[in-house]
Amino acid sequence: MKDKNVMLIGFMGTGKTTVSQKLALDHGMHEIDLDSYIVDREKMNITDIFAEMGEEGFRDIETDCLKDVVDRTGNIVSCGGGSVLRDENVELMKKNGVIVLLTATPETVFERVKDDNTRPLLNGNMNIEFITELMRKREDRYKEVADVVVDTDGKSIQEIADEISQQVGL
Ligand code: S3P
Repeated sequence: MKDKNVMLIGFMGTGKTTVSQKLALDHGMHEIDLDSYIVDREKMNITDIFAEMGEEGFRDIETDCLKDVVDRTGNIVSCGGGSVLRDENVELMKKNGVIVLLTATPETVFERVKDDNTRPLLNGNMNIEFITELMRKREDRYKEVADVVVDTDGKSIQEIADEISQQVGL
């Protein structure tokens, strides 16, 4: 697996970052959080990038950063929730990577993200109805690009990490 990457995708609040960190620890691999990579590179937080450059501007930066990240292998990469919307990004993810989709119900997502204001798409829309609608718009896409799907509802971080390790063969 050291010659590949594990790319975690899924809706905001499905636990991608936390699970990536756990997987990296368990397997002595390196963890890369694409959003953090973007913030470090741009020296700006996600909210400010959206405010100054709009969602398309953010998506361009996201694609650029993904290109950097997939040049290396042996990483667990936590990808932002909207990163699979562009075909180009999915091709990049598949280049050296296995794509793992994490899922959760809108209610679980809401509980995990409700006190966090760092996601511009949810600011002013922090309710189960909005989350349900955006998730519904994206869910076919997530499923279509995923190699492996792991549901996270009611599971501990360790259980999710173990399920991924087993399915991917880490
Ligand atoms: C987004 C998800 C966020 C971040 C940005 C846009 C999305 O990442 O990339 O706010 O479009 O779903 P997380 O999924 O890590 O919260």
